[in-house]
Amino acid sequence: MFLTLYLVIATLLHLSCPAFSISAPDFQSGSNEAHLVNCLTRKNVPTAYNTSVQWLELAKSFNVAQVYNPVAITLPTTTQEVSDSVSCAASIGIKVQARSGGHSYASYSTGGKNGSLIVDLRMFHTISVNDIFGSNIVSATGVASVGGGVRLGNLDLSLYAQGKRALPHGTCPDVGIGGHFTHGGYGYVSRAWGLAMDTIIGLDVVLANGSLIHASASTYPDIYFALRGAADSFGIITTFYLQTLAAPKKIVVFSVSMPAVLKSSSEAAHGFLRLQEFALTSPHMTRNLTFGIVIEGGKEFTLKGWYLGYESYFRNTMLPVITETFPGPFEATISSRTWLESLANETDKPLEQPLTDYRDHGLFYAKSIVTREAYPLTFKALMSFFGFIIAECNASCPTNWRSIINLYGGRDSQINAVPTFASGYSGRNDLWVIQNFFSLEGQNRSKVIDFASKLTRTIPEAQPEGQFGASLSYVDPMLSWQEAAVLYYGPELYHWLAALKRKVDPRAVFWNPQAVHAVDIYGVPLEG
Ligand SMILES: Cc1cc2nc3c(=O)[nH]c(=O)nc-3n(C[C@H](O)[C@H](O)[C@H](O)COP(=O)(O)OP(=O)(O)OC[C@H]3O[C@@H](n4cnc5c(N)ncnc54)[C@H](O)[C@@H]3O)c2cc1C
Ligand SMILES: *[C@@H]1O[C@H](CO)[C@@H](O)[C@H](O)[C@H]1NC(C)=O
Ligand SMILES: *[C@@H]1O[C@H](CO)[C@@H](O)[C@H](O)[C@H]1NC(C)=O
Ligand SMILES: *[C@@H]1O[C@H](CO)[C@@H](O)[C@H](O)[C@H]1NC(C)=O
Ligand SMILES: *[C@@H]1O[C@H](CO)[C@@H](O)[C@H](O)[C@H]1NC(C)=O
Ligand SMILES: *[C@@H]1O[C@H](CO)[C@@H](O)[C@H](O)[C@H]1NC(C)=O
Ligand SMILES: *[C@@H]1O[C@H](CO)[C@@H](O)[C@H](O)[C@H]1NC(C)=O
Ligand SMILES: *[C@@H]1O[C@H](CO)[C@@H](O)[C@H](O)[C@H]1NC(C)=O
Repeated sequence: MFLTLYLVIATLLHLSCPAFSISAPDFQSGSNEAHLVNCLTRKNVPTAYNTSVQWLELAKSFNVAQVYNPVAITLPTTTQEVSDSVSCAASIGIKVQARSGGHSYASYSTGGKNGSLIVDLRMFHTISVNDIFGSNIVSATGVASVGGGVRLGNLDLSLYAQGKRALPHGTCPDVGIGGHFTHGGYGYVSRAWGLAMDTIIGLDVVLANGSLIHASASTYPDIYFALRGAADSFGIITTFYLQTLAAPKKIVVFSVSMPAVLKSSSEAAHGFLRLQEFALTSPHMTRNLTFGIVIEGGKEFTLKGWYLGYESYFRNTMLPVITETFPGPFEATISSRTWLESLANETDKPLEQPLTDYRDHGLFYAKSIVTREAYPLTFKALMSFFGFIIAECNASCPTNWRSIINLYGGRDSQINAVPTFASGYSGRNDLWVIQNFFSLEGQNRSKVIDFASKLTRTIPEAQPEGQFGASLSYVDPMLSWQEAAVLYYGPELYHWLAALKRKVDPRAVFWNPQAVHAVDIYGVPLEG
């Protein structure tokens, strides 16, 4: 059965291969680019160049605010072809990045600079529960093996069809597993089930030297550690092994609009402070409740989330406690939905996403700030944040932007139940992850970026002791690699990752502007 499927896919691909492979540009003979073409051609790796008709769409990143021109894009169908792609590029010093869903905020999956080789994983799209094919996993229950190019909506549909299984992850069905599961992956069940990353039990990965290995807690544990947080710097994951869960029968999906909150910064700050206290200490606060605040255009204040439990309990007991310190009126939408209905309700896009011909794009810029449980937001910081929004938007602020303030920590959070140094992800003591997201469509870009920077600074400036970070999921191309290192990972974890980088990828084959360097944050080379 598996073999048949494989043959069908291989046959299909062979029909479409020639269109990708025939016409490389006329690179100067003897140049690195010409060597790359020779190598990929010799090894028969399906490859697209900017001379092929599909190129424009193929090379376009999701966020067209950052557009890069890769030297080539390979479309491997086998792990051998992934390995050949990496080896060909590595042998001549061309940088490599994998592309899964292509939703990197900074378009790092098209290189983050011109001239990189992109390994597009769209042909790695099988999803199979309890499949032990090609791995050392011994009949684990509910373990799914999932190709490195799968999009989240397709993942949900397929897992549900294979025994009503489910995984925690974010809200957009077109985001890819490759970037999402390796840099966090937060959704409205995450306080109960953890981040998407926390469901990874093994990974098949091609390393900088072209070797395919299986990384897990028992084989290559250091690489397994690093991939969960910094996969973009360490390899190309072709298959994920994920511990699925039984999909809940019903989920309470809620959204409470609070139109009066942003009329006064002190009301907003007081309300939020009490919400934070609720999240940290209330006996009602269990892992079964995950929520965030969305502030739309500086005007609309909405509390949104999911609760795993009884709707009547949420409606009559929890919600009044959560909202009591905010000024009314409130407009609440609360409903019990099935798993797939709940997922579909968070997005305008269908869960079923195209396998090969994806064409949606955005034009945006975002900055994030991560707060720590040990330093809850202070009244002063909240006044500074809400005061800035209210004052600026009373005059004129950008249109089409939002702040999304998601609760990662708080009482009984299963994200934070994972030990701090369990993987290359440093966020196990985070409380809120705040994302300030701006559409750049029809806007003055430098003005928007200036506003985003000022808004994001309001909090640390008012709470300098807060030890704030930034989110690995929402990479900000305006950070230098040293700033990114400290804000995403923190010096200690970064130092460890950099030492491993020196060992397994000393020449930085896997590179983007914020990838882990083989030197510490002061530029000092590390012993491998
Ligand atoms: C519309 C939208 C909604 C989002 N919603 C959420 C949300 O609800 N919650 C949340 O936590 N995040 C969310 N995100 C952030 C998202 O998780 C990240 O942008 C993520 O990195 C995207 O994954 P991708 O595979 O689509 O991206 P890609 O651009 O393909 O990859 C991102 C990075 O990961 C690397 N990479 C990709 N695949 C692999 C692989 N197989 N092996 C090794 N490295 C790989 C790439 O080289 C690149 O550096 C959202 C992003 C967008 C654009
Ligand atoms: C990279 O390529 C893009 C698209 O072709 C081009 O607009 C841009 O100027 C190039 N950047 C650099 C630094 O060469
Ligand atoms: C194609 O890419 C090469 C180098 O990668 C570049 O020199 C050339 O200008 C590109 N052509 C087009 C039409 O973008
Ligand atoms: C969370 O919800 C599940 C399923 O509804 C229930 O079994 C469990 O006891 C709840 N846990 C807590 C801490 O409330
Ligand atoms: C989600 O559900 C609410 C309440 O039923 C509805 O108003 C909203 O349109 C739904 N959103 C989507 C995207 O389905
Ligand atoms: C909003 O602007 C108006 C007119 O400039 C001013 O009178 C008012 O005080 C401002 N309100 C706030 C909350 O800043
Ligand atoms: C964009 O805004 C900046 C100020 O931030 C200004 O200097 C510039 O002239 C504006 N550009 C346009 C095209 O309006
Ligand atoms: C590739 O690197 C890995 C990790 O360092 C190592 O275990 C493996 O032996 C290397 N393979 C080859 C062929 O050198």
